[in-house]
Amino acid sequence: MTEKKNSPVTITDIQAKKGKKEKIVSLTAYDFPVAKIVSESGVDLILVGDSLGMVVLGYENTIPVTMDEMIHHTKAVVRASPKPLVVGDMPYYSFHISEEETLRNAFRFLKEGGAQAVKVEGASPRRLKMIETMVDSGIPVMGHVGLTPQSIHQLGHFRVQGKQAKEAKRIASQAQNLEKAGVFSVILECIPMELSRVITEKLKIPTIGIGAGPYCDGQILVFHDLVGYAHGYLPKFVKRYAHLHSILSDAVQSYIHDVKEKKFPDDPHSYHVKSSKILDEVD
Ligand code: KIV
Repeated sequence: MTEKKNSPVTITDIQAKKGKKEKIVSLTAYDFPVAKIVSESGVDLILVGDSLGMVVLGYENTIPVTMDEMIHHTKAVVRASPKPLVVGDMPYYSFHISEEETLRNAFRFLKEGGAQAVKVEGASPRRLKMIETMVDSGIPVMGHVGLTPQSIHQLGHFRVQGKQAKEAKRIASQAQNLEKAGVFSVILECIPMELSRVITEKLKIPTIGIGAGPYCDGQILVFHDLVGYAHGYLPKFVKRYAHLHSILSDAVQSYIHDVKEKKFPDDPHSYHVKSSKILDEVD
């Protein structure tokens, strides 16, 4: 089936793009207005990423993010009736304990959140088992290998993965194992472009890169990084297309100035009574 002009993007549409050599354009969104912008601009896939913990909730890393927070933001995105496929990111501790708990949390994304799929970081044998269980239960799953931010305490710090032969081999076989486990697509984060090229060629499912160079089947970035609205350190792989932070802080500075100098509120931004007699009644 071909993608219809105004119908929502499906997993089949995303997968077909690999065969047609059409890039899959993806972005994160965590709320209603950004989901509207991203959807109206023609993006194929929205990830409600657990990066929201750092980007909009102010956590130091993604570890503290809860299921309830993820569902809250997924619902806000879905309320925008986005055309892109919406993928909910399973947070740390939501798919670790048991198959039953993993399923319950994944179903929450689809039933309560309104997402069409979930994403899971990692590809250990135990993780693959959880993924197989979800796929068997009819839940579309996206994989994620390379730099997996939820492993921050094992990694020590965020750095490029797969620069050495052993690590590169491990990441490539993880991606292949994820394909076997039934994921519909896989995110490759922060790995050398030569490695993502090899993985992309080996897999039948689409690869979506972030910091993984130009050879992936698709690309994803954090929306706030792209528009310059993020705080703190920006990785080398981010290209900024706007500088919202300075635009917004200039706007706030102008507001402060106008209020202090009694320039705002002015007449055009105020209301009037119909007749001054009305005020006689007030006295
Ligand atoms: O949480 C997130 O936003 C992600 C993307 C950066 C891939 O996992």
